[in-house]
Amino acid sequence: MKVVGINGSGRPGGNTAVLVREVLDGAAEHGAETTYIELSEMNIGVCTVCMACKTSHRCVLQDNMQTFYDLASEADLLVLGTPIYLDHVSSRMMNFIQRLYCYVGPAIENCYPRVGVKAVLGITYGAGKPDMYQGVLDWMAGRLKGYWDIETAGMLTVPQTCRDEVIAADHAEVVRGRELGRTLCRA
Ligand SMILES: Cc1cc2nc3c(=O)[nH]c(=O)nc-3n(C[C@H](O)[C@H](O)[C@H](O)COP(=O)(O)O)c2cc1C
Repeated sequence: MKVVGINGSGRPGGNTAVLVREVLDGAAEHGAETTYIELSEMNIGVCTVCMACKTSHRCVLQDNMQTFYDLASEADLLVLGTPIYLDHVSSRMMNFIQRLYCYVGPAIENCYPRVGVKAVLGITYGAGKPDMYQGVLDWMAGRLKGYWDIETAGMLTVPQTCRDEVIAADHAEVVRGRELGRTLCRA
């Protein structure tokens, strides 16, 4: 089983990184091959609306998104983590999702290169209410399912994060994330 984790935070090693990495570590415990992608360290441009992907189903921009395209046809599980920036996913995560537009056909049909793919979605944010950004998770799950038939198998929510003290590995939601990784990759 192959698992790809994507961190949409603007900083490596922050709260969202901890969350995504724990899911990957849980998956690895059950033999999964994991790849971690830190979007802030990648050069990923924005869609230029050339529409070449409507026939090729691969974006022509030769940037680091090609790394993900190479993995997409093999990955069984995607772990998408994003901090909340002004009440939504980060711009990096939004751009990542929009660059999957190459897997949407000219009649809005699904052209994702693999079937049966699942996702784990995680958000971290500073506000205190645990359900405050459930709508953002639902938005992500809806896009993944609606455009690419990727089923969300789990959602992780870490509120009340702070910048200077990154969430601990024994935070209940982080522990749940690791367990989710294990469960989803159990043979
Ligand atoms: C530009 C920016 C916008 C933010 N907007 C929100 C917000 O709308 N709501 C919220 O609760 N926290 C907000 N935060 C706090 C982050 O979501 C929070 O610190 C998050 O855990 C950061 O993740 P990281 O440690 O992986 O970078 C914002 C932080 C930044 C830098």
